[in-house]
Amino acid sequence: MNSSPLLRRPRRLRRTPAIRALVEETRVGPADLIAPLFVREGGGDPEPVGSMPGIVRWPLDRLITEARELASLGIPGVALFPVTDPALKDPRGSAALDPEGLVPRTVRALKAAVPELLVFTDLALDPFTSHGHDGILTADGSDVDNDPTVAVLAQMAVLHASAGADFVAPSDMMDGRVRAVRTALDAAGFHGTGILAYAAKFASAYYGPFRDAVGSASAAGTRSLDKRTYQLNPANRREAVDDALLDEAEGADLLMVKPAGPYLDVLSELRRATRLPLAAYQVSGEYAQLQAAARLGWLDLAKTRDESLLAIKRAGADVILTYFAREVAEAHRGRP
Ligand code: PBG
Repeated sequence: MNSSPLLRRPRRLRRTPAIRALVEETRVGPADLIAPLFVREGGGDPEPVGSMPGIVRWPLDRLITEARELASLGIPGVALFPVTDPALKDPRGSAALDPEGLVPRTVRALKAAVPELLVFTDLALDPFTSHGHDGILTADGSDVDNDPTVAVLAQMAVLHASAGADFVAPSDMMDGRVRAVRTALDAAGFHGTGILAYAAKFASAYYGPFRDAVGSASAAGTRSLDKRTYQLNPANRREAVDDALLDEAEGADLLMVKPAGPYLDVLSELRRATRLPLAAYQVSGEYAQLQAAARLGWLDLAKTRDESLLAIKRAGADVILTYFAREVAEAHRGRP
């Protein structure tokens, strides 16, 4: 048999590297990536985070050097997460509103040293509360109290904006917080400060290594934290899209899905439901699982890293927060 009845031979478009490049639909480069950075008090060497190989808690002076390098590698921005001294934590997370706190000081130093690098700050109380929840608890301590928490988040947003943050990123999942934050920013004259809303944030077990990194893992070291009264049920896609669209209606500039890899269906549905740019957060556990398998020699780290990011972009993300940002940018150095 020498004459083929096939009209379509899809393999023609996969025949050579040049053809494959010509028809490539999705590309991930440094310009798509935001690097999350952990910052701590004091000087000395960066402290490694055990469950996140390659990730450290930076002292402020070293963080500035790192930020400069990230900017020169083409990374457009960083997302800051503070490691709070346990002595400064209390049930109300009061340290979050300290104008001389670690976050405002870090933002000021970053914007002075590397003004072109975008700074995203996290709005949530978990780094500052002694119980590790993202907000203030109700009188009986059984749940996070929505409206008092939102009032604090709005003040926190103004504090971060006045320090120079380009975007504030509410990651708390309280109801109505985007509107409260927008209103407070505008009232204080910060019309240009953007809101990256953690719009669909799930109650995920993939945040484990992050909670080790910032020391918010448990209530006084006793039980693991249950955030299911505010973060989304991993079983619910419709509810996730609905909640994300509320953040758009309340004034968010960018909507984020988190975690990313296990929730590509949510990302892809949200892509069709809104015209806003979308972000996705490849979280600590997604990073840790690739690192762990690579350390065992079971997966190729660079290839699975790149494939995981490609999948997130293909599903609809314009911006990806990833702990791999620096590595990817280094791998792209010198490429167009
Ligand atoms: C807290 C916050 C969390 C992450 C970002 N902001 C953890 C949580 O909700 O418990 C997780 C990020 C990661 O796992 O990389 N508001």
